Amino acid sequence: MDIILIGLGVVGQGLVEILRDRADDLAQSYDFRARIVAVATHSRGSLAHPDGLDPARLLQAAQSGHLSRYPDAPGLRRGLDALALIRDVPADVMVEATPTRLPEGQPALEYCRAALDAGKHIVLANKGPLAAAYSDLIQRAARAGRQVRFEATVMAGTPALRLAQQALAGCRISEARGILNGTTNYILTRMEAGLDYAAALAEAQALGYAEADPSADVDGWDAAVKLLILARTLFGAEPGLADLDVTGIRDITPDAVAAARAAGERWKLIARVTPEGGSVAPARVPLSDPLAAVSDATNAITYITDLLGPVTLVGSGAGRLSTGFALLSDLLDLRRLM
Ligand code: HSE
Repeated sequence: MDIILIGLGVVGQGLVEILRDRADDLAQSYDFRARIVAVATHSRGSLAHPDGLDPARLLQAAQSGHLSRYPDAPGLRRGLDALALIRDVPADVMVEATPTRLPEGQPALEYCRAALDAGKHIVLANKGPLAAAYSDLIQRAARAGRQVRFEATVMAGTPALRLAQQALAGCRISEARGILNGTTNYILTRMEAGLDYAAALAEAQALGYAEADPSADVDGWDAAVKLLILARTLFGAEPGLADLDVTGIRDITPDAVAAARAAGERWKLIARVTPEGGSVAPARVPLSDPLAAVSDATNAITYITDLLGPVTLVGSGAGRLSTGFALLSDLLDLRRLM
């Protein structure tokens, strides 16, 4: 599988690291052999090689600050812009892992359209294109006979979408509710341990959980975008961000955290979606509620189903390897179709 990777930040590096460390295992166990034939970044250069780039050298170059540090080799091309790579470099899949920009989802949305029009499957970690133009991308993919995969966009590699779409197929899901943002859950957990808000946010950023602009996390918009994606995949509903009720965690003070704790409760940022609409808001949950035990950057989602009742999935919701793994899981799925 030849891959064009757009974006080499925390998430893109997570995927490259997994491909570097698991190549033999993936080949033996899943007959999966991947080559990264091109990489483009916003401000750290781009590279393309028809035989594939070396993952270890690619990571070294990315971590040293610029892809110009990748060693020269015959056939290596540098400095092509992302759209040119996507259109001109032969590949099976484009992986889009640039930062989510709301509400328009650009420039990632243009990259996605160009990749589908050039006959490439697309795998997204970026939520922006789906929030801005879900139906357009799905229809464009259908016309091109290609796939759009985006497990990474909700709960990182914890298979929230796959659970609903595959394992629970045949059930009717009437509601999804849970903790869908790792950064805010991490901040609330650390505030309970006595850290102030700014220090807790700085830790979440250092650990690679936060969005490039962390106000998307703390003001609830990241969880809201995940609800849009869930509304579309679970219910075929197409609400916009403006249709959701969204409140973040900025107003939760250390005193409020302590008061909840004294009452045997914890603050959690709860996201909820039904076919009729959705909301994101902080709530005090009793310690007896399973969501109270979900700490740090862990996420949880409960699907309310007709045949099974509630089904809850708990797992990592953010981070380098967790999200890199989500991309790998989509690539492995595509491999089965190729
Ligand atoms: N910033 C997001 C979070 C990353 O904290 O959950 C995963 O979507």
